[in-house]
Formats: sequence, C-alpha cells, structure tokens
Amino acid sequence: MGDVGAGPGMKQRLQTLTREVLERIDAAGSEEALEAIERTDLARKGELLGMMRGIKDLPAEERSAFGQAVNEARATLEAALGSKREAFLSARHAAETADTRFDPSEPSIAVGGGHLHPITRVRREIEAIFMGLGFSVVDGPEVETERFNFDLLNIPSHHPARDMQDTMWLESGQVMRTHTSPVQLRAMMRANGKVPLRVIAPGRVFRNEQQDATHEHTFHQVEGLMIDEGVSVADLKGVLTLVLSRLFGGTVEVRLRPHYFPFVEPGFELDMRRAGSDDTWLEMLGCGMVHPEVLKGGGMDPTRVSGFAFGMGLERLAMMRYGIEDVRWMMSGDPRFLQQF
Ligand code: DAH
Repeated sequence: MGDVGAGPGMKQRLQTLTREVLERIDAAGSEEALEAIERTDLARKGELLGMMRGIKDLPAEERSAFGQAVNEARATLEAALGSKREAFLSARHAAETADTRFDPSEPSIAVGGGHLHPITRVRREIEAIFMGLGFSVVDGPEVETERFNFDLLNIPSHHPARDMQDTMWLESGQVMRTHTSPVQLRAMMRANGKVPLRVIAPGRVFRNEQQDATHEHTFHQVEGLMIDEGVSVADLKGVLTLVLSRLFGGTVEVRLRPHYFPFVEPGFELDMRRAGSDDTWLEMLGCGMVHPEVLKGGGMDPTRVSGFAFGMGLERLAMMRYGIEDVRWMMSGDPRFLQQF
C-alpha cells in the first residue's frame, strides 16, 4: 500500500465493510447464523480487525482518527449483534410460553392452613358479643405495679386476700399481674369520671402455682366493667345471662351465690345451666358490684354512679366448649392438639 491516498481508500473500505456486516446481521435468520457472523466478521483474524494492523501504513496524522473509526465500527457491530440476539431470545420465550394459558378453574396446590388457638377463638367470640352490647375492648400491662394489681383493688398488703392468689414478684417490686382486674382501674382513670363506661379486658395472667390438669402458671381471663348512673345487680345478671346464652347457644339460666372478693360489694360466684333443665350448675365466673373504694380509686364518684364487674377464665371456657380435659395442652404448642380446632 502506498502512503498518500491509502488513508481515504481504507476509510472507504471500513464504511463499506461496516454496512455489509450490518446487513448480514439484519438478514440473519437464526441464532446460529448470528454466531457465524460473530466468528468471521468480528474475529481477530477477520477483515475489520485486520484493518488495525494496516494503521502503521497510514500517514502519522491520520492514524489515531482511523483507529478510533475502527473501534467505533466494531462497537456498532457488536451492539447490532446484541440486540438481534435479544430479539431471538424473546421470540424463543414467547414461543415456549404460547400455549400455557392461565386456567383459574384449575384446582390449586393445597397449602396447609394454620389454626386459631382455642383460646383465641373463645376470646374473639366473647369480644364480638360484648362489642355488640356497646362494650369496648381494652388492654393493660402484664407487668403491673402492686398498686394496680392489689392496693387500688382494695387488697392492702397484709390483707389475707393477697394470699388468695400466689403472686410472681419481680425483683423490681412489680408483679406479673395475677388477674385482669387492674385494667378496670386503668379504664376508669382514662374515662376521667365520664359514664357510661363499658369495657372488657381480655389478657394473660400469671400465678405462682403448682401445675396440674386444671392449673397453669400462665392463663387467660377476661375482665368486664360497666359503670353508669343506677347500675344494679339486675343489670349484672341480665348482661351476663345474655352474654352466656349467646356464647353457649340457646338460653342459659344463671344463679348468683354470695362470695367474697375484696373489690366488689356484694360479690358473687355465678353458676349457669341450660334454661329449664335440671342439669348440674356450672361455676362460670366471679362478679359483683364494684366496691365504692375501688370506684373512688378510679376517679369515679360512688355517690353518683355504680357499676358491676366480673372476671372469667378463658381456659375453662375453651375446655368446656371443646371437651379439653387437661389445661396444660393449651400452652403445649403441640400440633396434634392444635390441629383439632
Ligand atoms: N379477679 C378475680 C380472680 O382473678 C376474678 C374476679 C372476681 C373479677 C370478681 C371481678 C370480680 O371483676 O368482680 O379470681
């Protein structure tokens, strides 16, 4: 190759070659054809890269511009190859999935379902029944102060009633709440003297007890409280009869047996049975008229308002409902137990 004039000739050839290869890429009918183009036209020994080797024959001032032109041509060709390859690939995917239509009626793979714990089920039922009667569901802390768990509920220290419940004391002097009754006080304080106040407070409670088929150290209660002007024992009995009837289906009959609880006066144990039957009475819950001292502690005026309260164990209820014989199953976490509900 001569020196002057070789430059324009090589540039021309570069342009022609680039156009020809682009046309070949465009015309390629298969992925194999593309690969063949790549193997010949873009190979190290191919004409395009061969042009790099001719650079030394160019006049010095043209070398760098020509080298750049070759590199650009190469980049253009590789990009064209790439996008053509993409096109083949997506055509192939489309073909592969063309006849897999979505059939919404086809039965799906069965996924093993979870189960609501029997305690959760009875809790939710009770919540729904009370909400239907205008009660709201409230919450309180599981770690309580001595004041809320005992003092404000009319159970001063050294009072024998403290021994009615075996308490788990924390090193801080706080207690794991032994019942849900302290939530009564929290609800009253939040109400700020405003009535009517109708709440239930379901939750976990803790006792330092020996475990057996009917005793757990951790179990669940639901506390109920209704305060208004002129609330009487008749309201207590009426509301609880209605709730238990809904909970057990049919109509139940209840009876109140006098019982001592420090936070109520008078206090009762409530028994129930199917209305009109001579079934044995089943002991269901503790209840009573909120003690004036407790009302005062919650910021209520006992000369103006009165209220009833009750506390019910959820484990016993679930055990009755589902025929569970040992309370220790409840917290066992055993799938053989849980799967039955
Ligand atoms: N706190 C009592 C317990 O854990 C249950 C109870 C009895 C709650 C009478 C009450 C009530 O609100 O009036 O054994």
